[in-house]
Amino acid sequence: MTNKIIYGDALQILSHLADNTVDLVLTDPPYFLDKMDDSWDEKKVSSKKYHHVVKSLPAGMKFDREQGKNFYKWYYKISKEILRVLKPGGFFFSFSSPRLYHRMVCAIDDAGFFIRDSFIWLYTQNQPKAMSLNHFIDRLNENEQTKINLKKQLSGWKTPQIKSCFEPIAMAQKEPEGTFLENFRKYKVGLLNTNVKIGQDMFPANVVSTETINEVVDKCFLISKPDKKEKGDFNIHKTVKPLSLCEHIIRLTTYSNEAVVLDPFCGSGTTLVAAKNLGRKFIGIDINKEYIEIAKLRTEKMNGSAAQYNASRAEKQLQLCEKTAAYKIPRKAKRQALINS
Ligand SMILES: C[S@@+](CC[C@H](N)C(=O)[O-])C[C@H]1O[C@@H](n2cnc3c(N)ncnc32)[C@H](O)[C@@H]1O
Repeated sequence: MTNKIIYGDALQILSHLADNTVDLVLTDPPYFLDKMDDSWDEKKVSSKKYHHVVKSLPAGMKFDREQGKNFYKWYYKISKEILRVLKPGGFFFSFSSPRLYHRMVCAIDDAGFFIRDSFIWLYTQNQPKAMSLNHFIDRLNENEQTKINLKKQLSGWKTPQIKSCFEPIAMAQKEPEGTFLENFRKYKVGLLNTNVKIGQDMFPANVVSTETINEVVDKCFLISKPDKKEKGDFNIHKTVKPLSLCEHIIRLTTYSNEAVVLDPFCGSGTTLVAAKNLGRKFIGIDINKEYIEIAKLRTEKMNGSAAQYNASRAEKQLQLCEKTAAYKIPRKAKRQALINS
């Protein structure tokens, strides 16, 4: 199934993958934020009709206490399958939302993974979702003066949705066989490649950013910024992840070109493009036919060899380092080090 993008329900397709064959699972599952009412149910969200993600929050914030629990039950089953198909020591990185992270990570933990860490993808650009209450005040059965007073009293006070400026990413690992060294020699997974640097030649951290924020943040956490063209102008997916973020995680965790990277909720295929860019094998799954076509187009467009690609990526990272601070290591040696990593 390698280098294939498969149309269908993740749980069902995963059951066809062989045990212990995947090196890394990197995915951004649907969060179902547009289904915050009582009608969240697994069958419905798994159906081909229901595949949209992260729309606007419903008016009145209908938080359903069952939503997180239902998400847990479903993601527990997904995580069990992921555990089965991963090689011993293989990593599972799963994006989440700050509000549902706890349920997601419990599902992964309970399915049998070791939770090794949580990453934070930090950004500053996001639309706050908090709402003013004026609209509801207008509908109160009160006289005009009371409404005016209430609006004045609540000026600036909004529904409890703070501006969201990070996305948590769970970093889990399937139990290695024997020691880390024994496991690595047998399966070529389970260790982290600390030659992969972030920011200004820094040791990889669990905070990453894909936009320039300020000197300190950029120096410690910046990985390269998204290229305007990387999504493809045909890409209508609403929640496309930055390519550099996926590449960063793949470079950190996979060792050889034989490594297989699986994304069971691949959407427009960012993980798959990243894997292909780096000369890794990939498997993508999505329940939406249109997204499958977009993912295919995006992966097919990437025809350059991995070596060529690595050289151009190294050049970009170098330019980034040079922009953020004075650069001391000789350019040629640095470029080679970046390509090698
Ligand atoms: C958050 S998006 C992934 C976006 C992707 N990372 C990208 O950069 O384009 C989640 C994806 O999961 C898909 N999906 C939802 N339910 C699914 C299911 N049961 N099986 C497989 N895919 C599903 C949706 O169609 C959507 O494209």
